[in-house]
Amino acid sequence: MGDWIRVLIVDDTEDTRTNIRKILSFESRIDIVGEAANGFQAIDMACKYKPDIILMDINMPDLDGIQAAERISLKCPTASVIMISVQGEHDYFRKAMLSGAKEFLVKPFSPDELIQSIIEVYERNQKRNIQVYANQVLGQGYVQSPKIITVFSGKGGVGKSLIATNLAVGLNQLHKKVVILDLDLMFGDVAAMFNLKVKETIYHVVQEIDRLDAESLLPYLLETKSGIRILPAPIQPEQSEMITGKHIEKILRLLRETHDYIIVDTPAQITDPVLALDQSNFTLLVNTLNVPVLRHNRTVLEVMDTLNYPTDRVRLIINRADLDTGVKPKDIKTALGMEPYSLLPEDKYADLSINRGEPLLEMKPNSRWAKQMSKLIEQILAEDDRQKSESWTKRFLWSRKRA
Ligand SMILES: Nc1ncnc2c1ncn2[C@@H]1O[C@H](COP(=O)(O)OP(=O)(O)OP(=O)(O)O)[C@@H](O)[C@H]1O
Ligand SMILES: [Mg+2]
Repeated sequence: MGDWIRVLIVDDTEDTRTNIRKILSFESRIDIVGEAANGFQAIDMACKYKPDIILMDINMPDLDGIQAAERISLKCPTASVIMISVQGEHDYFRKAMLSGAKEFLVKPFSPDELIQSIIEVYERNQKRNIQVYANQVLGQGYVQSPKIITVFSGKGGVGKSLIATNLAVGLNQLHKKVVILDLDLMFGDVAAMFNLKVKETIYHVVQEIDRLDAESLLPYLLETKSGIRILPAPIQPEQSEMITGKHIEKILRLLRETHDYIIVDTPAQITDPVLALDQSNFTLLVNTLNVPVLRHNRTVLEVMDTLNYPTDRVRLIINRADLDTGVKPKDIKTALGMEPYSLLPEDKYADLSINRGEPLLEMKPNSRWAKQMSKLIEQILAEDDRQKSESWTKRFLWSRKRA
């Protein structure tokens, strides 16, 4: 991409502006379209010169960087704001993101960091514009429409979290943008299964829920080394009480805008938040070859039926399917009225992988479990394509009928 990046510099100190100008003069792709000394000037110049990037000092007299960014995002939203601050506190970061800023730089930064962030924000925005355009042209968002996959079971300890986390790993390896929503609100351990320390959780998201949009939600998400995002469950179990199905609906809606797949891990109860998952494209109902598990899951299917939940989206998974328990995989059809969709074997490294915080698909990619898991992912992707072409066909027929 050899096009120019148009930059506006906003800072109340002339020295700083001169410094930034000097740094940017070394990058041939960057064109400085102006300098503003305060928030009001910044808004004027942003609308007049239509910069791609605005480097915005957060602390300025009169109208500060946050207020200016808020107004710019409404008045001339094509400009991406990079907020610059001496403070690195989280509160500042969050305020900046809520104001619509796309990036947050803490002083002092190196010339390289500055140039790099400008280029990254610019390219990200270009991609987004192309995507938005494609969605508009193609109408209803069938382009890469994100999939919600819920992993559920009427009984605990059957491998839901193991499956949810590895499903995310596998999809991520296929270059999908994946987020895991941990809806096991009392005892969720998705973050721990990636050996990540939790700071903010769904509890904090819900407190800001009315103010959040797809982008300002992103800073709340944890990210694994390989780039999977996680919205963790609350740290204190009592914090889960205030989270409702309505909240989950909004969170899903926002996560859909920025991801290809949303994987939802769940508790073994049908709670209000779990009921919001009737939007799922797939529900993987996890079983083991264990009579109480099958009995509970039969009840789950009956409850779904009563609630008019789309049971045609349910897929049965049998985990630890090769264990000799007296129940055979073929008995599943009799018990649950559905063929199993995927059989995952016993894996002696499952506990080690959970304890180490290293997903099985990465730790033992050649194991039978990992191979079956990859097959399961292929099956899901194939169904995806089928769903997509079905909706295309439906739309095609529909438009012909109207014509
Ligand atoms: N295929 C498997 N082979 C061996 N052990 C397994 C397998 N699947 C799960 N386990 C083990 O079973 C235990 C429960 O797994 P996991 O935490 O994924 O289940 P869960 O359904 O999420 O449980 P909970 O309801 O408590 O959230 C873990 O110790 C895990 O290592
Ligand atoms: Mg679990």
